[in-house]
Amino acid sequence: MADRIRFVLNDQPVELDGLSPMTTLLDWLRDHRGLKGTKEGCAEGDCGACTVVLERADGQREAMNSCIALLGQIDGQAVRTVEGLHGPGGGGPHAVQVAMAESDATQCGFCTPGFVMSAYAFATGGEKAELDTIHDALAGNLCRCTGYRPIVEAMTKVAGLPVEPAPRLSTRAGSASFDGSFHAPRSLAELLAMRARQPEALLLAGATDLGLLASRARKPPAAVIHVAHVPELTAVRETDKQVTIGAAASYAQAMPALIASYPALKTYLARLGSRQIRSMGTLGGNIGTASPIGDMPPVLIALEARLRLTSTRGARELPLEDFFLDYRKTALAADEVIESITVPKLWPHEVFFCDKLSKRRDQDISTVAAGYRLRIESGRIDDVRIAFGGMAATPRRARTVEAALKKDGFAAAIAAIETEFKPIDDWRGSAAYRLQAARNLLRRLELRVASPMHAVDVEAL
Ligand SMILES: Cc1cc2nc3c(=O)[nH]c(=O)nc-3n(C[C@H](O)[C@H](O)[C@H](O)COP(=O)(O)OP(=O)(O)OC[C@H]3O[C@@H](n4cnc5c(N)ncnc54)[C@H](O)[C@@H]3O)c2cc1C
Ligand code: FES
Ligand code: FES
Repeated sequence: MADRIRFVLNDQPVELDGLSPMTTLLDWLRDHRGLKGTKEGCAEGDCGACTVVLERADGQREAMNSCIALLGQIDGQAVRTVEGLHGPGGGGPHAVQVAMAESDATQCGFCTPGFVMSAYAFATGGEKAELDTIHDALAGNLCRCTGYRPIVEAMTKVAGLPVEPAPRLSTRAGSASFDGSFHAPRSLAELLAMRARQPEALLLAGATDLGLLASRARKPPAAVIHVAHVPELTAVRETDKQVTIGAAASYAQAMPALIASYPALKTYLARLGSRQIRSMGTLGGNIGTASPIGDMPPVLIALEARLRLTSTRGARELPLEDFFLDYRKTALAADEVIESITVPKLWPHEVFFCDKLSKRRDQDISTVAAGYRLRIESGRIDDVRIAFGGMAATPRRARTVEAALKKDGFAAAIAAIETEFKPIDDWRGSAAYRLQAARNLLRRLELRVASPMHAVDVEAL
C-alpha cells in the first residue's frame, strides 16, 4: 500500500490520500481544508502573509512560509495556523491577537495572520522583548498599510509567553514514498540507493529554492528525494579543530555552532532570508543550487570549508572552492549527495570577517558578498584567503588579490580586483558597481585589520 502523508494540524492528526505531495502547504490549507486565514501574497517566500508555525519534536517553534513548503515535507510534523490559536481554556483570541488589536497593529488585515504567526513563534520561543530580536523575528513579514511601529509595540507585550506543547505523531520507522514521486528516506544507505536508482529525481532539502517551482511557477518537479530525515545529513558536530554541518541541517539548527566559532557570521546570517527561510533552508541547498550570488559559498570558501560528497560508490572530500565549475555547474556526480560541510576553526592569530551588500537590508540575496580569513602576526598579514560572490559566474576565491595583499599590501590588493574579476552585469548591480563595491569592501577590510577591536561590530551594509 502506498504511504500516506500524516501530520498534526492545529492539534488534530491529519492523513492525506489522493493528493499530490508536491501541492504547497498553502494551497492545501486554503483550497482543500478551507482555512483561509493563511494568505497568499507573493507566493515566493518574501512577504510572510502565508506564515504558519512548525512545532518541532524538540518543542522548538519556528515560523515558516507555507507558500513554498510542499506537503511531502510536512509529513510527521506539527503545524499551527492562525485558526489554531486560541485564548486560555480554548476560547477567545490568543494573547498575541489581543496585543495586536490593542496596539492598533492592523489596518486592511491582509498581512495580519502572517504577523500573528511570526509573533506567536517569537512569543513562545523564550526570547526577550529586545528591539533587535523583534525586528529579526518580523523581517520576513511585510505590511503595506499599518506601519511597523504598532506591530513592534504589540510584540513587546507578548514576549515570554508559556509554551503550550503540541501533540505529535510517532516517528516513521523507515523511508516513505508518496505518490511514487516524493521519496523520503530515513537513512543514508536508503538515500544513496534511491539517488543511484533515480539520478533524475531532484534532491530536496528545505525547498526554499525548489519550492518556488511549485509555488510561483506552478510547475512542481516531477520527482524529488527529500533529504531532511537522514540523520547523517542533519547532524551538527563540533571538535576543537572543526565544525561539521550536515547538508540538510537548517540554518536555524546550524547557526549556534557557526556563530560560536566565527562571530562575524552573526550579522551576516541574520540577513540571510528571514526566520521563515532560515527555519527551512540549508547550507546543502545553498551550495547545491550553485547560484553565483548565494550567501554562504564565499564565506565558506574563505574559511577553507570542505564538502563530503557521498554515493553508493563511497565518500570523497572536496574543497568547496573546487565544487563550482561554471555558472550553475558543479562537481557533484549524478549519483552523489552533499552529505556535510566541514569548516576548520580559526587558529590563534587568525581573524575572519564577512560582508553582504544587497539592495534591501533584510530578505534580499546579495549583490556582492565576501569572506576574508587572515592570519596576522605582529601587525603583518602572513596568510589570507578572500572569496567573493556576485563577481563572476561562480562564487570564487580572489587569488591575485590575496597574492597582492600579502606581497604589497592593501593598495595593491584593491588594484588587483579589476584583474581578478569580470563581474556579472544585471539588475542587481552593474559590472562597474560590483567592481567598485569589491574595492570598497577591501578598503573596509583594511580599516578592520587596522582596528580589530572595532571590526566585529561593523554593521554590514
Ligand atoms: C524569500 C527568500 C529569501 C532568500 N534569501 C536568501 C539570502 O538572503 N541568501 C541566500 O544565499 N539565499 C537566499 N534564498 C535562497 C535559499 O533560501 C537558499 O539558497 C537556501 O540555502 C536553499 O536551501 P534549501 O534547503 O531550501 O534548498 P532546496 O530548495 O531544497 O534545494 C536547492 C538546490 O540544492 C540541491 N540540494 C539540496 N540539498 C542537497 C544535497 N544534500 N546535496 C546536493 N544537492 C542538494 C537541490 O537539488 C536544489 O537544486 C532565499 C530564498 C527565498 C525564497
Ligand atoms: S505568500 Fe508571500 S511569503 Fe508566502
Ligand atoms: S494591515 Fe494592510 S498590509 Fe498590513
